[in-house]
Amino acid sequence: MMHDIRVKVNGQWVEARVPSHRRLLDFLRDDLDLTGAKEGCGGGECGACTVLVEGEPVNACLMLAVEADGADVITVEGLAEGDCLDPVQEAFVENSALQCGYCIPGMVMSAKALLVRNPSPTRGEVVEAISGNLCRCTGYARIVDAIMKAAQAERAGRTVRGDESSKPGGE
Ligand code: FES
Ligand code: FES
Repeated sequence: MMHDIRVKVNGQWVEARVPSHRRLLDFLRDDLDLTGAKEGCGGGECGACTVLVEGEPVNACLMLAVEADGADVITVEGLAEGDCLDPVQEAFVENSALQCGYCIPGMVMSAKALLVRNPSPTRGEVVEAISGNLCRCTGYARIVDAIMKAAQAERAGRTVRGDESSKPGGE
């Protein structure tokens, strides 16, 4: 069965006709060519596919595209503004918090959701926030450091974009 859906993706409304079983992850990657969200396990275990739906981190491999009808979806592609990276992305780069990079889009989106909700997290809260995101390479320490640095940048007065409206990535 086909469904007509309308989803706000990275600030732009997108209309599409999708089959009932189309996963949000496939809709984003294959239909919209937004390949930042990755498929790791395909079963809700690794977090590589994490995107924000109504500001909450969601495993896009576990959500159907039809379930996102009418929702505000932010992918990692929606964070930077032109050449200007989001402070969370910038902190990952500055702290060399990646190796192969496969897990990083999901990590960044989980971190983004945390910092919008809680701009001054403890290290433990950061660890908790990324507990659903697996990394095979880094050992996590630099990732946690990067998220703490992004939070510091926010406290120093830099804007964590997405905190400018009621929803991450809102207009
Ligand atoms: S691919 Fe979605 S949680 Fe692993
Ligand atoms: S940087 Fe390789 S899986 Fe995380």
